[in-house]
Order: sequence, then C-alpha cells, then structure tokens
Amino acid sequence: MERLTFPESFAWGASTAAYQIEVFKISAIYGGLCVRCVCTKTYNKALPVFLWPGGWDADGKGLNVWDTFTHQGGDRVYKNQTGDVACGSYTLWEEDLKCIKQLGLTHYRFSLSWSRLLPDGTTGFINQKGVDYYNKLIDSLLAMNVTPLVTLYHFDMPQAIEDQGGWNSEKTVEFFEQYAKFCYSTFGDRVKMWITINEPHIVAQLSYEQGLFAPGKSEPGYGAYRSAHNMIKGHAKAWHAYNTHFKEKQKGYVSIALDSDWAEPLDPSSSDDKEACKRYLHFRLHWFANPIFIDGDYPSGMKIKISEKSIEEGLTTSRLPEFTDEEKTMIKGTADFFCLNYYTTRNVKRLSNQSGPSFKSDLEAEGVKDPEWPISGIEWLAVVPWGLRRLLAYIKEQFGDPDIYITENGFAQSDPPLLQDTHRWGYFQETLAEVWKAIRQDGVKVKGYFAWSLLDNFEWTSGYGARFGLFHVDFNQPNLPRTPYFSAFEYAKVVKGNELIY
Ligand code: NOJ
Repeated sequence: MERLTFPESFAWGASTAAYQIEVFKISAIYGGLCVRCVCTKTYNKALPVFLWPGGWDADGKGLNVWDTFTHQGGDRVYKNQTGDVACGSYTLWEEDLKCIKQLGLTHYRFSLSWSRLLPDGTTGFINQKGVDYYNKLIDSLLAMNVTPLVTLYHFDMPQAIEDQGGWNSEKTVEFFEQYAKFCYSTFGDRVKMWITINEPHIVAQLSYEQGLFAPGKSEPGYGAYRSAHNMIKGHAKAWHAYNTHFKEKQKGYVSIALDSDWAEPLDPSSSDDKEACKRYLHFRLHWFANPIFIDGDYPSGMKIKISEKSIEEGLTTSRLPEFTDEEKTMIKGTADFFCLNYYTTRNVKRLSNQSGPSFKSDLEAEGVKDPEWPISGIEWLAVVPWGLRRLLAYIKEQFGDPDIYITENGFAQSDPPLLQDTHRWGYFQETLAEVWKAIRQDGVKVKGYFAWSLLDNFEWTSGYGARFGLFHVDFNQPNLPRTPYFSAFEYAKVVKGNELIY
C-alpha cells in the first residue's frame, strides 16, 4: 500500500451546476400540468405529487433554454424529465452545505443561474431574490472556510437572450460581458475564482450543431463554429472586463472550463489514424485553447481543413469564421489558469466518407471505445484513468505549462444506484493516482481536483437516470434527502489527509 501525498494547499472540491440542482419550488401541483408554457403536457410524471409554494420560476427567476426545452417534452430527455425540482438546492442549499462539510472540501464549484439573477438576461432588471440567494450561499461557504469557484454560464442561457439568437448572435457577446460585470461587481468582493463558460465545445456541438441539448438548434457545418466563435469572444470580453475594472481591487482570477477526451490512434502504426487523432484533439481542445492560451486564433490544421471542405462544397468563404487581428489580440492570453473537465478517452480512426457539411465530416475522424475499458453507468463514459495523466502532460506541453484545475471528473451509476459504490470508488482511486503521477512524476502543475458531482442531479438528456453524485439524492421523497455514498466517505478521507492511500 502506498501513500500518495498531494502538494500543500491542493484544492479539493466538488462541482455542481445551477440547472442541474437548483429548482425545487413549484407553483402548481407538482406533477400536474405545465404552468408556464402553452404545452398541454403533464410533467415530472415519474415523480410524486405534492405541493410547494413558489415555482421553478420562483422568486422572479426568468425562463432559461433548459426550462423551455424540457417543458417541450418529445422524449428529448430521458422519460421527459425536467430540472423543475432537481435537488431543490434553491431551497435546500443548507443541506448541500452539510454535504460539503461532511466531505471536508476546501473548494466548491457551482454555477450562477443567469436568468435567476437577470430574468431577461440583461441588467435592465435585477432579481434581488436571486442575488440574495447567491449571497447566502457564498457567505456561508466562506464562513465554513470553503473557497467558491463560480461558473457564470453552465448551459442555461436565458430564454430572452436565446430568442435574440443566443450564441449564434454576436449580440450575446455584449450581453454576456454585461452579465459578467454584474456578477463581479455583486459577488467579486468575496468570489476570487471565476469560470466564464463551462464546456463551450459541448454547447457548440450539442446545442447549436446537432440540436440535442437546449435550445435544440441543429445547423450542421455552421452552428458549432458560429456559436463557438461568439463564446470565445464572450469569454475574452468577460476576462478583460475583470482585468480592467475589477482585478486591482478584487485580486481574483478568471478562466474557462474546457472539456476534452484523451485520444489515442486506433491503429498506432497507421499514419491516417495518427493524423485523425491529432485532428480529434484539435477540433476539441485546441479549438478553444489555441485562441485563449496561445495566439488568439484557431489551430491552423483546423482552419485549412474546413476551408478545403468549404471550397469543395462550392463556397467562396470558409464555414469557420475568422477573427480579425484586433480580436486575436483581444482573445490571446485571456485565462489565468487552465480548467479541465475530463471524463474519458477514445481510440481514434480516420473517417472520410461522411457526406454533407457537418462538423463530423470536417473532422474526418471518429473516436471509439476500447472493448476492454469498463463502462460506467452512462454509455459514453468508458473508464480510462490513465488517459487523464496523458492529457495533463499534453496540456502542460502544448499550452505553456499552466496551473491546471481539474474542474470536473467523475463516474455515473445507472439508476437505481448502489449506496455501497465500491466499484466507483475504485475508479476514483485509480484516477487520483494518475493525477498524483502527473504532478509528482511528470511535473504537471495540477492545483486542484473537483469531483463531478457533489450530488446526484439532472444529467441533461439522461435526466435522473445517471447518478454522478458523491451524495445520493432520493428524488422520490418530498424533502429530497441526501445520503453519502461509500465514495463520499472515502473521498473525505483523501481530502482530510491530503493523500490517497492506495
Ligand atoms: C460535464 C458537464 O459540465 C456537466 O454538466 C455534466 O453533468 C457532466 N459533464 C457529466 O456528463
């Protein structure tokens, strides 16, 4: 048995996101007819019927794209579930604090609901009850000596902003900058670590290219690139807003959370697969990390590939938008640390027979799971702890040896989950051992690890069917009780000792 000790002041955290955990109070009979939209659906059918005052739009919260999307039904989400109740953290936040305390976390990552604070997305109207809610949360965390790491936007775009184009529109860049400024000026006296956007790659791909995530827009070959372009600019503006107006006084740090798989060539002796593997990382990680961490621009391989494809399609300009020189200067260097969300690895092979303009046909690569890798309780999540170590070393080498926070990593159980999740703790252990090796043997500056997630929650299109929590949530009980999994007890030991005994 080895004792793997982590560096002093290592940040031990857990993460959540507003739409996935917050809403609880519902303004009609819970489980009854949808009260907000014109749809005639009954929703939350799978859950019990009981009465609560208020609503998912309680206390002045505005509608966001996930409210709209889930209320539309149509089997876009597992069992047509919604985040109307989720973990009820808007009401039960003190229960969450107890979980954080039980784990002994040094850090807690959560996101602000943009439409709870600014119901129509703009600073024209501020919802004071939303401000009060986050003030209580932040103050209580600090009183417990827990550092908040706050995400401004985690997939839940205000519907009013989406109605004006969402990330497809350049206007959203300005709205996002205003919102960021509002958050810094409201909470920045106490919040010192900020993440602007969570997983822009996922938003671009699933929300604007394939239409699988809210707002369900599908525009293959265009949607991902256009929305990503605006997100990068929005992020950069939000970073500058902090740097120019708040940094001196508040002395905090701002970054963006990028998700990436690690990628290995399916056939290591095939130059086609090796090239495909490189493209896979370029179209995922470098797409955002090159502009922000390197030179303000997209990777050249990506630019060339999309431009060639566009010409083949008879277009006169590339489907990948271009940054102006001024924008490149504005974007370059706009992250104070590197935030990585890592879940899995893929074996990558060349794929060249995709028709029509689409992100996938531009990529000319496909990632597949190795049949040897165990699958967690959600089908895409193959458990590959060593992939994280390789990815960390790659980030160190490619992006100037930044300080890295692993802002998400975890393993789902399928429903019904086991409280005695020893297999899952095994995955955590192996992963933490790889993080330790990255730090101690590869010299990667990993500064913290945040488990996804503090609680079982609304896992987007998988609804409540995928359980990522360190704490079990009983969604069938009116008070949504939280109960620690075996993994929670074990994680608490690691946090307490700042070491993994393995
Ligand atoms: C990353 C996302 O940020 C989070 O919202 C999601 O629940 C996890 N991945 C697991 O899929």
